[in-house]
Amino acid sequence: MILVTGGAGFIGANFVLDWLAKHDEPVVNLDKLTYAGNMETLASLQDDPRHIFVKGDIGDSALVAGLLTRHQPRAIINFAAESHVDRSISSPEDFIQTNIVGTFRLLEAGRQFWAGLPAEAKAGFRFVQVSTDEVYGSLQPSDPAFSETNRYEPNSPYSASKASSDHLVRAYHHTYGLPVLTTNCANNYGPYHFPEKLIPLMIVNALAGKQLPVYGDGQQVRDWLYVKDHCSAIRRVLEAGKPGETYNIGGGNEKPNIDIVHAVCALLDELRPRGSGSYREQVSFIKDRPGHDRRYAIDARKIARELGWKPAETFETGIRKTVQWYLDNPDWVLRVQSGAYRDWVKAQYVTVAA
Ligand code: NAD
Ligand code: TYD
Repeated sequence: MILVTGGAGFIGANFVLDWLAKHDEPVVNLDKLTYAGNMETLASLQDDPRHIFVKGDIGDSALVAGLLTRHQPRAIINFAAESHVDRSISSPEDFIQTNIVGTFRLLEAGRQFWAGLPAEAKAGFRFVQVSTDEVYGSLQPSDPAFSETNRYEPNSPYSASKASSDHLVRAYHHTYGLPVLTTNCANNYGPYHFPEKLIPLMIVNALAGKQLPVYGDGQQVRDWLYVKDHCSAIRRVLEAGKPGETYNIGGGNEKPNIDIVHAVCALLDELRPRGSGSYREQVSFIKDRPGHDRRYAIDARKIARELGWKPAETFETGIRKTVQWYLDNPDWVLRVQSGAYRDWVKAQYVTVAA
């Protein structure tokens, strides 16, 4: 049995679906079901006894302690977070509560549970912290990619809150000996991605005939990884990672945002052509994000060397699968666009609201 937190969100749900497709080991899935959590993504597991869903907060110490005692998991994998940079700029409070206070309470409950385990179970127990490359800050064009020894220099309330939680995770290993593993991953994309993030937003807006809002000059660089490759990396880290270590995970796909948007447009032009012209005509350059990090890039050589992990998808194969998935699943998209989602889009994109 493993305990996954945030397993109704984008990466957590992909992880749970992949896990249960590959193992029979049950999953307890603890998720608060914020705007970003979506049970629809987990619909195929509704009658699956291997999936135990619990609606709740990682910051609820009594709830987490009860779950640990009842289910005796051999690992906790912490995906739960507030994850959207733009939301962290307009309202940071939830990021502090979940990403910092919530992770602290989860660690504390985990530590107390772990401390009471018999020796063998104690030695095998793992706490996996799913973190981001954004904690390392922003790179200049000629800087080498982020390695595990880069300084933490977070620039947004989101990345600062993730950096804080990573430090707590590190301290729980150093001080108490809790067997933790931290992963710092590049930008993910793929199925079930909430359409407030770049790639799904562009697909959904393009199909709806709306503008494609590119911040600033569109030359900000991100390193993109297909979500299922992130999931395989986490499984590998859980299986073979060395407690106390951190592992960078990336796809080796550094691309400026505008190239990503153009790639999405080209695939849509091929797979779902407009009546006339290209989806590129919908691109609109808008006001930049405050404090926008210019470039992220991941050096993933450590996980390749020490754990033998590498991604299965190239950007070209992954983005094609992703666009096709959104074309095949319009109902999922419609249903995640709740009232709360629409309010956010209205507030965020005042200049381009269609
Ligand atoms: P997401 O926003 O899609 O999902 C987050 C999930 O956590 C949601 O289901 C939400 O309901 C749940 N949640 C939020 N607060 C909670 C709380 N207090 N208690 C329990 N559940 C709560 O995020 P995601 O993109 O799937 O990211 C998952 C993790 O991976 C995050 O920790 C994020 O920092 C990290 N990460 C994301 C990316 C990316 O590109 N998306 C890249 C690297 C790392
Ligand atoms: P995002 O998906 O929000 O991820 P992150 O900020 O965590 O990297 O954004 C990816 C990049 O796309 C980032 O440089 C901001 C940019 N972006 C836009 O240009 N327009 C948009 O509407 C969004 C949501 C993002």
